[in-house]
Amino acid sequence: MPSQARALVVDDEASSRMNIRDLLTLERFVVDEASDGVAGVELVKQNPYDVVLLDIRMPKMDGIVALKSMKLLQPNLPVIVFTAFGTSERAIEAMKCGAFDYLTKPFDLDELVEVVRRAMEHRKLATEVQVLRQRLAESEEYQPDQFVSKTPAMQKIFKMIGKVAPTQATVLIEGETGTGKELVANAIWYHSTRKDKPIVKINCAAIPEGLLESELFGHERGAFTGAHAQRQGRFELAHGGTIFLDEIGELRLSLQPKILRVLEQGEFQRVGGKTTLRVDVRVIAATNRNLQEEARAGRFRKDLLYRLHVVHVVVPPLRERVEDIPLLVQHFLKKYGGRRELAVTREVMTMLKEYPWPGNVRELENVIERAVVLAPGKFITPEHLSLPAGSAADIVRKYASSDSSSLALREILENVERDVILIALQRAKWNKTKAAKLLKISRRLLFTKIKEYDLKP
Ligand SMILES: Nc1ncnc2c1ncn2[C@@H]1O[C@H](COP(=O)(O)OP(=O)(O)OP(=O)(O)O)[C@@H](O)[C@H]1O
Ligand SMILES: [Mg+2]
Repeated sequence: MPSQARALVVDDEASSRMNIRDLLTLERFVVDEASDGVAGVELVKQNPYDVVLLDIRMPKMDGIVALKSMKLLQPNLPVIVFTAFGTSERAIEAMKCGAFDYLTKPFDLDELVEVVRRAMEHRKLATEVQVLRQRLAESEEYQPDQFVSKTPAMQKIFKMIGKVAPTQATVLIEGETGTGKELVANAIWYHSTRKDKPIVKINCAAIPEGLLESELFGHERGAFTGAHAQRQGRFELAHGGTIFLDEIGELRLSLQPKILRVLEQGEFQRVGGKTTLRVDVRVIAATNRNLQEEARAGRFRKDLLYRLHVVHVVVPPLRERVEDIPLLVQHFLKKYGGRRELAVTREVMTMLKEYPWPGNVRELENVIERAVVLAPGKFITPEHLSLPAGSAADIVRKYASSDSSSLALREILENVERDVILIALQRAKWNKTKAAKLLKISRRLLFTKIKEYDLKP
């Protein structure tokens, strides 16, 4: 146990307080005492305790009320309560109100030490998680110069960000995958009045359906199998700040009214909880689906759509803003090349402008990142690019139209095979072991094919 952990004992019986104090002092705690709930809550207001031991049968303030106040003041503070033997109702009530655990009086001293140890362990973990979250948020800290574009459509979006950021309006961002929706969300947060509070992000598509509600709203201890302790949800963590609900189109229908309720009233309940909690959170949502269509198809509630739709940003796909490609290439060369002075050849730029970018800016970023690693010198040339050849249909069309009189399947497939093997060989600089690996075929089969198609460097 940490040498200077602080504990508070709240009990109206002086002898009981003394027993606990002696015990905890032996465990190297600094111990404060209070003889009623009101004094106990006052002390929690003023001191950062690591654990509280609270008798819930006391004069002046009922122990449950004291417990509730303490949890409001410090949600992560573990409070261990004492109940009289045989009063399970009170014990259950205490657990519902966020007590860490309860002991029935008279209790065994070893038992008490054991529970306190568990509480401290729990608190340590909770703090570590918080620190990690904080660090993560910092490492992802948005820099305004990360967001580049010069096309009119994006300039309009920049202006819109400037206008809506300082308001508290809910924003819905739509766009294909990889277009920069998260960057838009970051920019809105960065220019908002809530910048000093973190932007809490949650990807509704990445979390298993059954866990999403608890991730969003938290849960009470025992709410479901595995819910060993009470847990705060993302909305609670975002209190006073901003929440980014990514892939909101994936939200199942049963959860949608709960989101609507937070949006409209700032209210929600934890899973398995009865108390209504209130938060002040600004909501930014993103989706790569067309929510109007989803609503028409009955997969998305219309009332939620209208509530989200207050401010609507549509990020255009990269193929509709080809003029941005040179600027983005420049940006990513710097980002991944560091001090290396890098450039793409004219041929490469043409290829990049012609490619349809189904994965949008993210795909372009990945292609450039790879090319920077592969290019030994100053120039990025076509062999450093790893652009996929397009869809199977595109390929077949290319070969089929090159000889309009023949649509022989075998011939087309052979042509495709020949080209793919050639590309692999070129990429592997004619190292056949490497090329075979790229193609995921045996070296022997590769040799046969080279002979069959008469391939030469
Ligand atoms: N205009 C831009 N300038 C610089 N970088 C950009 C731009 N747009 C996107 N990016 C970069 O592309 C990547 C994808 O962007 P982002 O995560 O914001 O897209 P998204 O629309 O949220 O994608 P998804 O739908 O897959 O979640 C990020 O690394 C981001 O930094
Ligand atoms: Mg995203």
